[in-house]
This record gives sequence, structure tokens and C-alpha cells, in this order.
Amino acid sequence: MSDIKVIGVVGAGTMGNGIAHVFALAGYEVVLIDVEEDALEQGMSTIEKNLARQVKKEKISGEEKEAALGAIRTGTDLEDLRNVDFVIEAAVEDEQVKFEIFRRLDKITRNEITLASNTSSISITEIAAQTQRPEKVIGMHFMNPVPVMKLVEVIKGLATNEWTTETVIKLANELGKTPVQVQDYPGFISNRILMPMINEAIFCLMEGVSSKKAIDEVMKLGMGHPMGPLELADFIGLDVCLSIMKVLHNGLGEDKYRPCPLLRKMVSSGRLGRKTGQGFYDYSD
Ligand code: CAA
Repeated sequence: MSDIKVIGVVGAGTMGNGIAHVFALAGYEVVLIDVEEDALEQGMSTIEKNLARQVKKEKISGEEKEAALGAIRTGTDLEDLRNVDFVIEAAVEDEQVKFEIFRRLDKITRNEITLASNTSSISITEIAAQTQRPEKVIGMHFMNPVPVMKLVEVIKGLATNEWTTETVIKLANELGKTPVQVQDYPGFISNRILMPMINEAIFCLMEGVSSKKAIDEVMKLGMGHPMGPLELADFIGLDVCLSIMKVLHNGLGEDKYRPCPLLRKMVSSGRLGRKTGQGFYDYSD
């Protein structure tokens, strides 16, 4: 987009740093915001590592890596987004946190710009309702790992207008991604289909249908999935999986979306997957 040059990214976690990475590599200036300095440092170091991986694989040159790193500024204050041309929010998946961020972004940023959310399951219509510009609020849902996965789910809230939708579609294309348009219903498409599959795999494990390795192998070898569902749940984070299942259960109201008791138990025990070193599998080394 010729009129979009500076992108604000809110949240430097797994998704936020991946989003900053792909925008910077595509030639945009990026302002990456997080409440914690530590999170920003960690996010930048992940971007550096992932860009280096792309250099090693000869996907990009060393100069492109340096240019991308040089295009990212960091800050701990949302006020730093005052002059950006587009914002994408990738903060924690907590409704109240996101609502507050959007209320603030609405006041801070120029009122003609689009405010997008990378939410994986929270209603875009409800997020948009926190602002005075619901027609310019939209979902731009990237997949993990962001530099690798081609999909961007583009979610239209009830009030989202065509201009906003076109803006996000063009941006996604410029990042080399494939945008797919979806209406605002719980879980959109990606998580409405993916999470019940993961949840069912956890039921299979809980009921002793087979071992975790066997469940994953069936889906990898039989269905060509790059990761088995239990391995993927660990990769996504079991807390994230549980919170999305709750959104599906509450929003669609059917028993088939009830979170598996074993998933609840794993989250209660703090076994959240790769990020804690322990999930269905052990990542301690
Ligand atoms: N940054 C940049 N490049 C990366 C990367 C990263 N973070 N992670 C992996 N890569 C690259 C590697 O360099 C490699 O590149 P080449 O193909 O050029 O060699 C390629 O990706 C594959 O990586 P690896 O060989 O290291 O590992 P792999 O073959 O086991 O693949 C994987 C890893 C891409 C993660 C693959 O296992 C996969 O696709 N898994 C499924 C991921 C998935 O389903 N994601 C969606 C999760 S759901 C979600 O995100 C939505 C939500 O709301 C919860």
C-alpha cells in the first residue's frame, strides 16, 4: 500500500515478533510495542534468530536481514504509535486486555487508519465496538510460525467496511501471504476446525484409545499433517487451546465443543507445552 509505510505492532510475543519480522522484511518500517522491556528484547532476539535461519537457508541475503532488523523500532508506550499508518495488535488472548488496548489505540492513532487484531478467537465485532471507528477495525489472523505459514485469515466484523477489508487483503498479498476472507463467528474457520480436532485427540489419549505417539503418527502418516495434533497443541500452547475451546463452547453452545478434562488438567498443572518445557511431550532439554 503506497500510503502505508509505518506499521505499529502491539505485543512482542511469538505472534507479534513474527508479524514485525514479515512486515520489516517486506520493506515496511515497524514500531514494535510491549509493556515489558524484557519481552521486547526477547522478541528482537527471536526475530534476529529467525532472519539468520532464512539467510542460512539462502531465502534472503545478509543485507536483507540487516535492513529488516534496522527497520524495527521498539517501545513500551502505546503513545509511540501516534504517527503510524496501520496497527496490528497481537497482545495476550484476553478479551479485557484487548478491549483496553483498542480503546487506547482509538484515541492515540490518527482516526483514518485501520486497527487490526491478530486475535485467534475473540469477536472482532466486540473489539470494534470499543472504538469510535468500528468500520476500520478488522481481524488479520496470522499462523505460527508467521514467517513460514502462508495463510492470513481476514475477519470482517459486523461493521467492517470494504475499504478496510481491501487494505488488509493488499497488505497480506504484499507480505507474500494468501488472505482468506471469513465472517466473524467463534473461532473463525481456522480454529473452529483445528481446535475440535486437537480436543478430540486429547479425548483419545484420556480414554486410552492409544498412546500419544500413536495418535500423532496416525495424523502425520495417515493424513499428511506436518505435526500430530498433540505435538501441535504443545506448539500452540495448551492454555491457548483451552481458551479457544471455551470461546467455541460459549459462542456456539454445543456439547461437541466442550474442552477435554485432560486439557483442563494439563493447563491447571502449568504444563502448557513447549513454552514451559512440558506439555504432552517433554522439552526440558
Ligand atoms: N522463522 C523462519 N523460518 C522458519 C521458522 C521461523 N520461526 N520456523 C521454521 N522455519 C523454516 C525453516 O527454515 C524451514 O525452511 P525450508 O523449508 O526452506 O528448509 C521450514 O520452515 C521448515 O522448518 P524445519 O525444517 O526446521 O522444521 P519442520 O520441517 O519440522 O517444520 C514447521 C516446522 C514449519 C513448524 C512444521 O512442523 C509445520 O508446518 N507445523 C504445523 C504448524 C501449524 O499448523 N501452524 C498453525 C498453528 S495454529 C495457529 O497458528 C493459529 C492459532 O490461532 C492457534
